[in-house]
Amino acid sequence: MNLDVATVVGARPQFVKCGLVSRALRGAGLHERLIHTGQHYDDAMSGIFFRELNIPEPDMNLEIGSGSHAEQTAAALVRLEAAFVDQRPRLVLVYGDTNSTLAGALAAAKLRVPVAHVEAGLRSYNRSMPEEINRVATDHWSDLLFCHNNITRDRLLAEQVRGRIEVVGDVMRQMVATCGILAAKVARPEIPFERYLVLTVHRPMNADADALSRILKWCEQAPLPLVFPAHPRVREIVESKLRRSPALRERMCLLSPLSYLEMMALIQHSQLVLTDSGGLQKEAFFLGVPCVTLRGETEWIETVDAGWNRLTGDQPGVESLNSAVRPMLTARPSQSAEEHETLIAAAFGPPDPVQRIVCTICEYLEIRASH
Ligand code: UD1
Repeated sequence: MNLDVATVVGARPQFVKCGLVSRALRGAGLHERLIHTGQHYDDAMSGIFFRELNIPEPDMNLEIGSGSHAEQTAAALVRLEAAFVDQRPRLVLVYGDTNSTLAGALAAAKLRVPVAHVEAGLRSYNRSMPEEINRVATDHWSDLLFCHNNITRDRLLAEQVRGRIEVVGDVMRQMVATCGILAAKVARPEIPFERYLVLTVHRPMNADADALSRILKWCEQAPLPLVFPAHPRVREIVESKLRRSPALRERMCLLSPLSYLEMMALIQHSQLVLTDSGGLQKEAFFLGVPCVTLRGETEWIETVDAGWNRLTGDQPGVESLNSAVRPMLTARPSQSAEEHETLIAAAFGPPDPVQRIVCTICEYLEIRASH
């Protein structure tokens, strides 16, 4: 049987994004295979997401592991090319902006296999972020570009991408809507605080020893204690700071990476999310929790415009964190659930991206088959 779609994933946020789409593609009768590059490999960063979200098991794991950007991208590129030559997919589907996304799109484009990109058109306009380079390149090689709203579509038109653009909405919004009820039933991780902030840090600009020390300095006297499910990249530095600072030990609960439902439950009960992750900015907004982003700019500008997200600026420290966090805690946007839904709908387009993506892919493959 010919392979219709090869889906390439590799890092934690992509497992969440592909969950509903992969199942729906198979439900629509398409032959889809999931290729895991192995960029994230610990069970806590990978396996648990597949089990918990009932995502089809990856058909292949390329086991590229960690490395420099060139090493990671090159290893994925070589192994994906071999997989595509062997499997002959009619379409390659990639998500987001990681090194696995870039490798999947480039390997397919060079083999002249059409590429579909979910989360197309995002821009931070900061080329020092590897993710920005990955997303710009992927958009220009893509034949189908799935974006979340009209602003993103207009940006892609202005950049003169050559593929077909479809405004479908945001797949993470649909995942949060699907999992929100489940998350409410999941036991929250054991934490010693009633009211708390959630902290996550993984971007290189915040994860080196100096940058992280500045953030942790603020944490010692933050207005509320913090729960920090730490990415493997930062764990060692945080542990060593905790050993040396009694004030930090009192103020912070360090956790291992959480499963998706545990993370959603933790956010739902928190006062505010403090993060440099792209996905968490959106998830906090969808769940009605204010967010402060540890960066100078964001791709998810809609969440800032809606009043639910505030930027600290680059190199966040005690002062910039205080001026971003305090007003978000005291002047929390007050809206009814209905008003909040209206705000989300205005910012994130249609509510059913999964169905729209699957319909567009089916139609695209049919048209190509008839030529
Ligand atoms: C990657 C993505 C980023 C995404 C993030 C989500 C790129 C350029 N970056 O960043 O867009 O937001 O994933 O987490 O692709 N590690 C482990 N165990 C694992 C995975 C990673 O110990 O399961 C370690 C690696 O060895 C490495 C570090 O964590 O030292 C960073 O991993 P890496 O894949 O380079 O990038 P992320 O920071 O996770």
